[in-house]
Amino acid sequence: MDKIFIEGQQTLSGSVQISGAKNAVLPIMTAALMAEGRSVVTRVPDLRDTRTMIRLMEIVGATCSFENGKLSIDGSTVNNPEAPYDLVKTMRASFYVLGPLLARFGVVKVSLPGGCAWGPRPVDFHLKGLEKLGAKITLESGYIIAEAKRLQGTKINFEFPSVGATGNIAMAAATAEGTTIIENAAREPEIVQLCEYLNTMGACIRGIGTTRLTIDGVETLHSADIDVIPDRIEAGTFLAAGALLGEITLNGVIPEHLDSVILNFKEVGCNVSTTSNSVTIAQADKIQPVDMTTAVYPGFPTDLQAQWVALMTLAKGSSMITDTVYHDRFSHVPELNRFGANIKVENNTAFVRGVDALVGAPVMSTDIRASASLIVAGLAAKGRTEISRVYHIDRGYEQIEEKFRSLGANIWRKNPIV
Ligand code: EPZ
Repeated sequence: MDKIFIEGQQTLSGSVQISGAKNAVLPIMTAALMAEGRSVVTRVPDLRDTRTMIRLMEIVGATCSFENGKLSIDGSTVNNPEAPYDLVKTMRASFYVLGPLLARFGVVKVSLPGGCAWGPRPVDFHLKGLEKLGAKITLESGYIIAEAKRLQGTKINFEFPSVGATGNIAMAAATAEGTTIIENAAREPEIVQLCEYLNTMGACIRGIGTTRLTIDGVETLHSADIDVIPDRIEAGTFLAAGALLGEITLNGVIPEHLDSVILNFKEVGCNVSTTSNSVTIAQADKIQPVDMTTAVYPGFPTDLQAQWVALMTLAKGSSMITDTVYHDRFSHVPELNRFGANIKVENNTAFVRGVDALVGAPVMSTDIRASASLIVAGLAAKGRTEISRVYHIDRGYEQIEEKFRSLGANIWRKNPIV
């Protein structure tokens, strides 16, 4: 099992290129299944999750090739609308094939995703939306079976602006008969890009980027190429490290996607500047405590909550971090306390009392973003940190130790992936 080691408190400097967004490319890949023909997706990060999704594409019959960030998916060979448990249980985003394959084949069998490190993570919004579009949904031995000769446009109102459910329903509705209106749709940049991609495939989606999507169903979609947007969560993770240790520049970002994040780093006392495609952060002399409440876009993202907690462990004072998107996403807290942090969790809020220093320790990753918070803490801690179960971090971060090493961090991996 790989481990990442860090000798902390190295000053960071220089710049890194931010990779393509995991949470944009995963639904884009499933959208490509709807078209007969070869779609080419560029700026695809080489991650466990993107490789898992490629495996799933191939299981359903698509022909894929992936090299140097360029992924081609030929949907014309898709012939098996089924996503097996063994694969879905490793990545919840596999559920994104439900809408596309149902729309294309009229029947699809997808394993229910299990829970994850921090909770049940239901899919009821996805299923209710498909039922409203006319699908017959049955549950059989842990598999969802959805059937519909042709989905019928309708009005769907999400009780929560679910990213995944918005993506799944938008894809399903793209070739439904008639118009679908999705109220309370997610507005995350990743879903914006998915809808833009669907339109380049011939779909007719209006209101992209707002909470109301109007989708006029079309007969078929054709293949299309796309360049994936940069990963704002990877960028925010590096900003948290830069806030503590020097001055770094992140290249290839879309600063607007980080507006709420940058605002908060400035409140902490960091100097943050941007150009059209980069952001530079200089560490704060003193980390001011800043309370945080996560929210759907354009609020502060839940996927940066763990990294923010790590930053607040070294603030000059106390702070409260509340996650309103997930109510139990704090598996990183016991691990951060092993560094000597002082954090208590009550319900969906972490109460952090800043300490003068963290001390390196052996810690364990529990999920993608919790792992990222352990790396941020390890980089700032005195002495050596050893992080186990780093397969979690490899799910969502491309060459993270190489990138941090290029900035001056003393970070390496043992038993490297061969
Ligand atoms: C996406 O997950 C992201 N994953 C997550 O990032 C991210 O944390 C999340 O959106 C919120 O921004 C991908 O894009 C692959 P949701 P998703 O549906 O779509 C509840 C990472 O680290 N809910 O917006 O699964 C749910 O339990 C990952 O990159 C239902 O109750 O998130 C949660 O409390 C982790 N029923 C809230 O809604 C449903 O049917 C938001 O979930 C669906 C969701």
